[in-house]
Amino acid sequence: MARASFLVVFFLVALCNSRAQALITDEEQARQWLDQYNSLAEHYYSLAEEANWAYETNINPQNQQAQVQASLNRDKFKKEAYDNSTQFDVNSFTNETVKRLFNKMKNIGNAGLSDQTKLNRLTRLLADMKQVYSTGKVPDGDRELVFEPDLTNELANSRDYDRLQFIWKGWRDAVGPTLRDMYKEYVTLKNEAIGELGYNDVGDYWRSWYETPTFEDDLEALWQEVRPMYLELHAYVRRRLGEFYGKDKIDENDPIPAHLLGNMWSQQWNNIYDLVEPFSGKQRIDVTSAMVNKGWDALRMFNESEQFFTSLGLIPMTPDFWRDSMIVRPEGREVVCYASAWDFYNRRDFRIKMCTEVTQDDLQTVHHEMGHIEYFLQYKDQPVPFRDGANPGFHEAVGDCLALSVSTPKHLKEIGLIDGVLQEDDEADINYLMKQALEKIAFLPFAYMMDQWRWKVFDGRITPDNMNQEWWKLRQQYQGIVPPVKRDENDFDPGCKFHIPADVPYIRYFVSFIVQFQFYEAMCDASGHTGPLYKCDFYRSPEAGQLLGDMLKLGSSRPWPEAMEAITGRRAMSAAPLVRYFEPLTTWLRQNNTDSGTKTGWTRFEPWTSSAPKMTGSAMATALICVLCCLFSRLMI
Ligand SMILES: *[C@@H]1O[C@H](CO)[C@@H](O)[C@H](O)[C@H]1NC(C)=O
Ligand SMILES: *[C@@H]1O[C@H](CO)[C@@H](O)[C@H](O)[C@H]1NC(C)=O
Ligand SMILES: *[C@@H]1O[C@H](CO)[C@@H](O)[C@H](O)[C@H]1NC(C)=O
Ligand SMILES: *[C@@H]1O[C@H](CO)[C@@H](O)[C@H](O)[C@H]1NC(C)=O
Ligand SMILES: *[C@@H]1O[C@H](CO)[C@@H](O)[C@H](O)[C@H]1NC(C)=O
Repeated sequence: MARASFLVVFFLVALCNSRAQALITDEEQARQWLDQYNSLAEHYYSLAEEANWAYETNINPQNQQAQVQASLNRDKFKKEAYDNSTQFDVNSFTNETVKRLFNKMKNIGNAGLSDQTKLNRLTRLLADMKQVYSTGKVPDGDRELVFEPDLTNELANSRDYDRLQFIWKGWRDAVGPTLRDMYKEYVTLKNEAIGELGYNDVGDYWRSWYETPTFEDDLEALWQEVRPMYLELHAYVRRRLGEFYGKDKIDENDPIPAHLLGNMWSQQWNNIYDLVEPFSGKQRIDVTSAMVNKGWDALRMFNESEQFFTSLGLIPMTPDFWRDSMIVRPEGREVVCYASAWDFYNRRDFRIKMCTEVTQDDLQTVHHEMGHIEYFLQYKDQPVPFRDGANPGFHEAVGDCLALSVSTPKHLKEIGLIDGVLQEDDEADINYLMKQALEKIAFLPFAYMMDQWRWKVFDGRITPDNMNQEWWKLRQQYQGIVPPVKRDENDFDPGCKFHIPADVPYIRYFVSFIVQFQFYEAMCDASGHTGPLYKCDFYRSPEAGQLLGDMLKLGSSRPWPEAMEAITGRRAMSAAPLVRYFEPLTTWLRQNNTDSGTKTGWTRFEPWTSSAPKMTGSAMATALICVLCCLFSRLMI
């Protein structure tokens, strides 16, 4: 007996030892392996990006097939590299950078799916969903309207209630129902893939990129900080829209019908600035018409944007960028128009794909996308796992931060988009801040609710048979908007927003819209700006550029609070700079709403009954009598 148990113990100890010895503790060997990994990663990643580019700029079955194949090859490489990386005893290493590289390597996403048939299916599904979205068209008499520019332009410019409703519904009919079943299958497969990496669900995985245990609570705290500003803006805009479209269409206690805000998803409202301008007769910062009148085209917009980056001493775009980017919608082939910036992981090739129109919105977007390219350029010599934003929100914030400077009247005058003498008084300032708020404040609840919805879909709190209803509950709760026509579960309105079928997380934009004001304030300070924050233009300030560049170079090599500290001197996200920026407007809005007896907020009601007729006066009277009768009868008994 004793001998037998001795043998068992002996074998167990031997087994443990052989296990432990199997893990490589030699850090030098690990470094070499990482170098090799890096070259291979550049190879597979750039092939996948090439094929993806060919597909997204020229949608056809042949290119889709090639794209799917290249993406599968990359995924196979990722999985294999990850499996190989587990032969190292990472915990025994002393170098933090080496450890972080190994830990980043775990983020292999869909490639985690070990069932090859399922991975093939998921990859194909992703391509198909993008295609449905990108080729969706709305029949209109003998024409077919495409999303960009037809639908976006009409939503921005039409002031015809019924026409807007037609466009709004038309787009949702064009792509929603087709995407609905595809999306359900995607959720199942993607959850399975991510589950194999050890995460609870896809939302859990996406949130892990922020390396913040309190991430959800932090976001909620930020939202609570900015929500009062949103409520004032919402109430003011609702009243002005009611004055324009009629109080029968927009009740002062209700959420706003979603098709009247100048944007397909009511996410930014700057296109209806003319309807809500606080002080008419002041100089209007209408740069779109100035751009058109001065003969600007897409190339001019891109040039102008690059000029701003280089004025700060940042890195210019590369020759390949100018040769290979797609900056206008091409003729004769279908493309994914949704603007995007591309890193081909070969340290040479960076491109933007965009169907640019000559508008102020798109000038903004050009800066946004070029901000991504600037980030790519700054961190291109980092190892592949670190070629990423400090967190995804940082990546989105770079171009927007510069655009805050570009959109100041002072700067627009400097680049010839405002003629004559600048009006600089309190009323002109309020007008300007209103325009900015329609873009920045209006966006916050949308950016917050998008992934509230998706996180719930991924973790099962929203089930496949109530996806649309729950979507509208959140839209109402956060944004205070309702669908203008009845929706049901055959519709799939979330799918009508690019990032959902395209599998791109969204909370990054909420984070971006907070932190971009932190970056902006820090860069303004560095440039020596004094006076109100919203007047700051750090054009041609190498000090501001240096501060930004130092942060961008880090890529994701350090946890984001360190990147935040590099630029702002503080480690936390904070809404304070954003609140400061808008302070004069917030005060004005509060005063105006109070003085005009405008209440903030909205009474809640089920979205499914939103198109039901309003209670008329007589119906109301009848209801009141019933209630009174009821009360009476109770009292009498
Ligand atoms: C689009 O793709 C097809 C098929 O791969 C190819 O023959 C054609 O040349 C491409 N067109 C352009 C403009 O790249
Ligand atoms: C993983 O290790 C195997 C066996 O050593 C090797 O053949 C393969 O090339 C490695 N793959 C990667 C991506 O590192
Ligand atoms: C850790 O490793 C990185 C990457 O190999 C290297 O650049 C760095 O100098 C090392 N740090 C220390 C403290 O040795
Ligand atoms: C509120 O602002 C609007 C737009 O500037 C203006 O017409 C209105 O008179 C203001 N109302 C009050 C009560 O100040
Ligand atoms: C863009 O900039 C380049 C170089 O600065 C210049 O040669 C070109 O004419 C510019 N194009 C436009 C349309 O402004």
